Amino acid sequence: MSVTQLRPAATNPVVRLTAISSADKKRAGIPISAVTAYDYPTARLVDEAGIDLVLVGDSLGMVVLGYDNTLPVTVDEMLHHTRAVARGLRRAFLAADMPYGSYHMSEDDAVRNALRFIKEGGAQAVKIEGGQPRASLVRRLTESEIPVVGHIGLTPQSVHSMGGYKVQGRTWEAYDRLCRDAEALESAGAVALVLEGIPRELAARITHQLRIPTIGIGAGPDCDGQILVFHDLFNLTFAPHPRFARQYGDAAAFFGSALSKYRDDVAQRRFPSDAESYHLPREMRTELDVLEPAASDR
Ligand code: KIV
Repeated sequence: MSVTQLRPAATNPVVRLTAISSADKKRAGIPISAVTAYDYPTARLVDEAGIDLVLVGDSLGMVVLGYDNTLPVTVDEMLHHTRAVARGLRRAFLAADMPYGSYHMSEDDAVRNALRFIKEGGAQAVKIEGGQPRASLVRRLTESEIPVVGHIGLTPQSVHSMGGYKVQGRTWEAYDRLCRDAEALESAGAVALVLEGIPRELAARITHQLRIPTIGIGAGPDCDGQILVFHDLFNLTFAPHPRFARQYGDAAAFFGSALSKYRDDVAQRRFPSDAESYHLPREMRTELDVLEPAASDR
């Protein structure tokens, strides 16, 4: 069995980031860094690298669980991963995606599900997709002390109604609607807004228009912050790279070559070595040499 060394208690107290810290960063003109995480080791890496905001995204469905899209992801799956991420974070602000179906039936149902992310998952905010039609729910969640991150533009849970994953806001009508969506979500109490898959010019306009921070993904450099999916950063999606997903490492190549070496070492009996083996106590080994002389050759 291998054990993960859990972190010792902090010697120097770490200040936990909150929704308020993100708003402060916007006011100070300091960009907000954000990335998704889905488990304890990646949460630790992300947190220890000083990333400001961690999202347990429902992209979990594709990049970790192997579903075709985000639609099958359940509240229980999201909670399982949110808890793991929460255990790995000390400093970063933690938001969790509410999956498809968990806030679509009624506001009561949505509040009940959202509370689970805060109480059981350890999240500090939930994220929901959609614009003006979600404003009333955002208000209700906010009044229930549940900070909400909005998400507009290319909203993957609407893949069927959008007719695929397409850049949004490229007509004047869509441009104006997204500006109104952003306004409505801010007025309803959203603490931040993810802008996904929209033209740079529109993201800049929305960012300028809002007091709350915008976090862009495929929305250009003028947002208050940027978010990427962890697996996109490290070439772990087994899929073509979207234009906006800059690759910062090739974990697929790294893991692939390490695994091939391991497989070869096992096949050639180069692993494990004697130094990687446990041994009987010295006296027993001496006795064993007498009792079973061939054993020492084995
Ligand atoms: O699910 C997710 O990872 C997201 C980000 C892309 C913003 O919603």
